[in-house]
Amino acid sequence: MKQRNQEIEMKKRVLVSGGTGYIGSHTAVELQNNGFDVVIADNLSNSKIEVLDGIEGITGIRPLFDKVDLSRKNECDEFFKRYDDIEAIIHFAASKAVGESVENPLLYYRNNINSLINILEAMKEHNIPNLVFSSSCTVYGQPNKLPVTESTPRKEAESPYGNTKSICEDIIRDVVKAHPELKGIALRYFNPIGAHPSSKIGELPLGVPNNLIPFLTQTVAGIRSELSVFGNDYNTPDGSCIRDYINVVDLANAHVVAIERLLQDRNKNNYEYFNVGTGSGVSVLEIIESFERSTGEKVPHKIVGRRAGDIEQIYADTSFSNQELGWKAEKSLDETLLSAWNWQKTL
Ligand code: UD1
Repeated sequence: MKQRNQEIEMKKRVLVSGGTGYIGSHTAVELQNNGFDVVIADNLSNSKIEVLDGIEGITGIRPLFDKVDLSRKNECDEFFKRYDDIEAIIHFAASKAVGESVENPLLYYRNNINSLINILEAMKEHNIPNLVFSSSCTVYGQPNKLPVTESTPRKEAESPYGNTKSICEDIIRDVVKAHPELKGIALRYFNPIGAHPSSKIGELPLGVPNNLIPFLTQTVAGIRSELSVFGNDYNTPDGSCIRDYINVVDLANAHVVAIERLLQDRNKNNYEYFNVGTGSGVSVLEIIESFERSTGEKVPHKIVGRRAGDIEQIYADTSFSNQELGWKAEKSLDETLLSAWNWQKTL
């Protein structure tokens, strides 16, 4: 027991805000698998406490959990007083529905921006130097040139949600410049999909899903009658939109690598940002094909009109993140879609 306590004490403690969410829970698993001690802070507004059972089922370790809304200053301050031994933070906790953000921008600005500011203030006050931020390829808009590299210019956001990602990136850049004892890495995710291969955790959308894969798997499960493919008249080989779909476990591992880079002082600047994708563009119709091939299930679908606000195509140039982070997406699209289906079947 004494030895075990010592082992736990030696582990570096990482705060995962939003750690019961989709990407946060997969990241908590990979952090624990890599010897980190995880504390999850989440207000459970868009996730379930049972996710902790899934994390424990995979890793054998139940992460510490605190139900807290970090966008509220007093709750955030109390949280950091309770946990005074955090060495690094991965900040996922945020609202993420594009349509909702258009209808209720204040909710998005309040929630997403206040929580980041509160966290940065806590980092200063409690001498926590390291932050990894959950950003998005949405900051590139519809790029003029594909694939997008980290030097592709950001464009004006298409939605308040997207704007919060750009603003948060800027806040981190400015704060670490003024306070060089702090360091930040923003990871710009492309389209995260799939579930843990154990099927113990995965995406748990509340209500009707907006995103392609949960809608697709719910359709195949009979919860929805048909998948609508939004447009087949785009300027792409098969006419449907193209995205860079990244396996959520590969994405989770990019966070572990980013945390290690900060903790080991291997970052080259106090603020860095990386594309986290596969480097391959895949169309909506190719997703359906790959799903059918890997699962043997038919996807009932119909082509409908374009969805407002959709961009035609985007995919990452990942050479900078591959080289600098020493990280690469490894899982195939087929196995990723199979994992999404296996997860759906457990629900
Ligand atoms: C969306 C957000 C993006 C956010 C991401 C979070 C927009 C414009 N962008 O990305 O900012 O970071 O979610 O996960 O909303 N599709 C269908 N039928 C469906 C659902 C989707 O054909 O029922 C198509 C879409 O037209 C798109 C692709 O599938 O081409 C992926 O859509 P989705 O999963 O919603 O992700 P994005 O729109 O790329």
